[in-house]
Amino acid sequence: MKIDLNKPSQKESHTEVLVVFSSTTKKGKNEVVKLSNVVVQESLQSSIDDKTIAGKAQEVTLFRDLYVAGSRHVIVAGVGSKIDAEGLRQLASAVYSCVKTTKAHTVLVDMDGVIHSKKEAGHFVQAFTEGFGLSAYDFDELKSKKDKKEEDKKEYHFTLSTKLATDASVKKAFHEALVLTECVNFSRRLGDLPGNLMTPAILADEVVHAVKGTGIKAEVWDKARIKKEKMGGLYGVSQGSHQEPRFIIMRYNGAAQSKKPIVYVGKGLTFDSGGISIKPSAGMEEMKYDMCGGANVIGTILAIAKLKLKVNVVGLIPATENMPGGSATKPGDVHTARNGKTFEINNTDAEGRLILSDALCYGSEQKPQLMIDAATLTGAMAVALGNIHTGYFTRNEALHKKISTAAETSGELTWRMPLCDFHTKDMKGTYADLSNMSSGKGAGSATAAAFLEQFVEEGIPWAHFDIAGTAWATGGRFPYNPKKGASGVMVRTFVQIAKLFA
Ligand code: BES
Ligand code: ZN
Ligand code: ZN
Repeated sequence: MKIDLNKPSQKESHTEVLVVFSSTTKKGKNEVVKLSNVVVQESLQSSIDDKTIAGKAQEVTLFRDLYVAGSRHVIVAGVGSKIDAEGLRQLASAVYSCVKTTKAHTVLVDMDGVIHSKKEAGHFVQAFTEGFGLSAYDFDELKSKKDKKEEDKKEYHFTLSTKLATDASVKKAFHEALVLTECVNFSRRLGDLPGNLMTPAILADEVVHAVKGTGIKAEVWDKARIKKEKMGGLYGVSQGSHQEPRFIIMRYNGAAQSKKPIVYVGKGLTFDSGGISIKPSAGMEEMKYDMCGGANVIGTILAIAKLKLKVNVVGLIPATENMPGGSATKPGDVHTARNGKTFEINNTDAEGRLILSDALCYGSEQKPQLMIDAATLTGAMAVALGNIHTGYFTRNEALHKKISTAAETSGELTWRMPLCDFHTKDMKGTYADLSNMSSGKGAGSATAAAFLEQFVEEGIPWAHFDIAGTAWATGGRFPYNPKKGASGVMVRTFVQIAKLFA
């Protein structure tokens, strides 16, 4: 797919599909529906009169073979009385689906029909572009291509048309949208690949390949190095698998060397069988997504580098399988994390916190200005917030404010969860410093966060994002996300966080 941003052409432009916007205004008791293009309005007045076009937000109607305004088909996209950036992101997705039904491939979108001020132009262009770019993701590389329809193979070419196309802030926003969608889609693919084709070694290779030409330096530690570096949590979880673990380090310096980095940590559990505390078989296949935290951190670092943000960042991805092989960690075993803290493993399925412990220690050693992690950590998170909001935990008020500002800009839904000393107390061990299972009832996501906190050096502002409910299968909520597949959640928000520190 190709997306361009252009000024409206002086001459009548020729395109297969023209997208115009419909909106409503109140006149006394009546709702008046207006289309953004007068010529189209004239041709479709009867459809407005009979309320086929009601102008409601998210209402998308296709008029085939209309042959007006230089276009064969017309799509009328409803914005209601007012629309925001997220509304436009979703509307773009609905338009994209509609375009797919037309068999046409060139599409012109009259963005001036929805942009009413210079201030909102950048946001609106960005949101609309993201809606298209995110909707275009299709994970079909493992299917035999033979039965693909001829028209599906043709590339879509979208042109967004606005008088402000050459405005610096609009161009920048458009470019940001293209980079973000490319990187989110990259993360999604890593998540969607099955466990046999996305092992820790393959994940590391993907990173080494992807950083070429971006200015990011990638370093990969193998099993021997992980052991030597005293990463007992990551090493311990990997013991039950024939696949070797990896510790992936990505560094991008967009600012002076002296500037403290932001460290992003992502859980890269390429398949979570539960280990000896094995999971039930129903739904276990979904545990290929247990590396989405890692995948989304990879996408974040790539996006930050491609946008050339003036910030230093480090991405850390502990990657392993969690399998019940003969050498696997057994319930009751005790391992030692990189900072010397010991933990008893009372349930081998609570492995995410173990591999993250070492990564958070290593992250703390980088003396960051802040540290953020993303992990499909607890089923309890999905119970609490479903596949709508991503829950995050932080005790740092200033960081909490930054996160909510960043999420408001990105349009991703987040919700702050509680983390306090009661949760910390519940994670104390009987035979070791810590237990990987809470001794209390409930609050499974918060106690997991309290466990992670034990590996963050005091004084470092830190937030933990539990993406267990939002990392995949969110398409029913957000139309630009795949129905079942990986969502790439938090890449956009994490990049916005970096922008706040750039
Ligand atoms: N990867 C899972 C968490 C998960 C479960 C994510 C379902 C998404 C959907 C994690 O490793 C895990 O198994 N956690 C356990 C922890 C428990 C044993 C304390 C859980 O949530 O059940
Ligand atoms: Zn698990
Ligand atoms: Zn897991």
